[in-house]
Amino acid sequence: MSAVDEKTMEKIVALCKRRGFVFPSSEIYGGLNSCWDYGPLGVELKRNVKEAWWRSMVTSRDDIVGLDASILMHPKVWETSGHVAGFSDPMVDCKKCKARFRADHLETARCPEKPSKKPGECAGELTEARQFNLMFKTQLGPVEDSGAVVFLRPETAQGIFVNFKSVVESSRVKPPFGVAQIGKSFRNEITPGNFTFRTREFEQMEMEFFVPPDEAGKWYDYWCETRRQWYLDLGLREENLRMRTHGDDELAHYSVGCADVEYLFPFGWSELEGVANRTDFDLKRHSEASGENLTFFDNETNTHFTPYVIEPAAGADRATLAFLVDSFEEEKLEKETRTVLHLHPRLAPIKAAILPLVKREEGMVKMGQELAKQLRDAGISAFYDEKSAIGRRYRRMDEAGTPYCFTIDSTSLEDGTVTVRDRDSMEQSRMSAQEVLPFLREKI
Ligand code: GAP
Repeated sequence: MSAVDEKTMEKIVALCKRRGFVFPSSEIYGGLNSCWDYGPLGVELKRNVKEAWWRSMVTSRDDIVGLDASILMHPKVWETSGHVAGFSDPMVDCKKCKARFRADHLETARCPEKPSKKPGECAGELTEARQFNLMFKTQLGPVEDSGAVVFLRPETAQGIFVNFKSVVESSRVKPPFGVAQIGKSFRNEITPGNFTFRTREFEQMEMEFFVPPDEAGKWYDYWCETRRQWYLDLGLREENLRMRTHGDDELAHYSVGCADVEYLFPFGWSELEGVANRTDFDLKRHSEASGENLTFFDNETNTHFTPYVIEPAAGADRATLAFLVDSFEEEKLEKETRTVLHLHPRLAPIKAAILPLVKREEGMVKMGQELAKQLRDAGISAFYDEKSAIGRRYRRMDEAGTPYCFTIDSTSLEDGTVTVRDRDSMEQSRMSAQEVLPFLREKI
C-alpha cells in the first residue's frame, strides 16, 4: 500500500463535513464568514487536544495551577495592557471592489474579482494603509452609553495577570510557577481564512510562567523545547514541525524574545503557538494602573521583586487542525483507496469500535453490547455498530481515526475471544474479550 495524491485543504474540509468533525456555522442560513462549528467527532477531538494540554501543563506538574477567568473584563485591563492603543493591524481597501486586506499580507492575498491577481495588481487602486483595532466591542448592561463599553478579550493572558495577587495569596505558589488557562478569545481579523486556522472566535491554551528575572533565559529555552516536544509526542511528524525565532521587528510591544512553533500546512509554514519572554511588562503596568502591589515577596532573601513571565501561547483550534492534517492519508490498497486518520490514540474521538459480524446473531449482539458497556463504564469512548458489511464499517472507522476495531464472530461465542484490527497496519489478531480493557488502557 502507498499514499496517493496530494493532501489538500479541500480534502480535509470535505472529510470534516462528511464525518462530522467541523461544519460551517449557521449553514442553513448560508453560513457566517470564518465561523465554524465542531460536530460530534470534532468536539471530542478538540476536547482531547485540550485535555492533553491541560494534563501536560497542569495536572502532571506541581509548579503550575489552573484558572478560568471571565471573557468580559474591566476596560482598564485593555488600556493598561496596550491593546486599546496598539492591538491593531494595518488595513487597506480596494477602491473598486471595496474588499479589505491586511497591508502586511498583500503578497499572499488575492483579488476577490480576479483571483489570479494580487490586490492592487487588478484594475482596483488601494487606499493608504490605516490601523484597524482588532478588539470586538460590546455593551455591558441595558444602558447604551460610552461608559458601558467593554471588549471581548483578545487573549486569555490578561485574565492571568490581573489574578496574579489572588493566586499567590490563595495557593502558596512561589516563582518559578505558572498559571494556565484554556478559553475563548475574539479578534476582528481583517482577513480570516484557511478553514479553522484564522478565525474571529477561537480558543487559546495559554500559560504564564512567573520566574525570577535572572532565570528568564533558562526558562524560555525550557518552554520552547517542552512545547515543541508536546506536538511530537502526540504524533505530529518531525519534518512538518519547526521553531522560528522572531526578528526584532516582529516582536510584540511587551516581548524581548519570541519563537513560534510552526507547522507545514498545505498552505505553507504557519504558527501553531508562540513562546514569548514578556519580561515584567504586564505585572508592572497593572500594578501602576491599579495601585495594587503585584510583586512577590521572597521570605528567604527578604526582598520584593516583580517576576518575569515566559508565556507559551497556543491555539486549540490550530493544534486540532494540525493533528487532523498531519494524520490524514489516502492510502492505495489493492482494489481501492482508503481514507484514514492516523490520529494518536489519546486524541482519537472514538477509541474502540465494537462490531458484531452478524446483526441477527443474538449471542454476538449481546457480547458486543456488553463489551461496549464495559469500556464506556471505564471511561473509554466505544462505538457500537452492527449495520452494513464489515469492510464498510472498518472504512468508516478509519475515516474517524478510530485506532482499534473489535469484531465478534462465531468463534467468539465458542471461546470468548474477539478479533482486534489495528487501524494503521490493518493487521488482525485474536485476544480474549477480557483482555480488551487492559489492552486499550495501555495503548491510550
Ligand atoms: N497572549 C499571547 C497571544 O495571544 P498570539 O500569538 O496572538 O499570542 C497565541 O496568540 C495563539 O493563539 C496563536 O499561536 C494561535 O495558535 C492562536 N490564535 C491567535 N489568533 C488566532 C485566530 N485568529 N484564529 C485562530 N487561532 C488564533
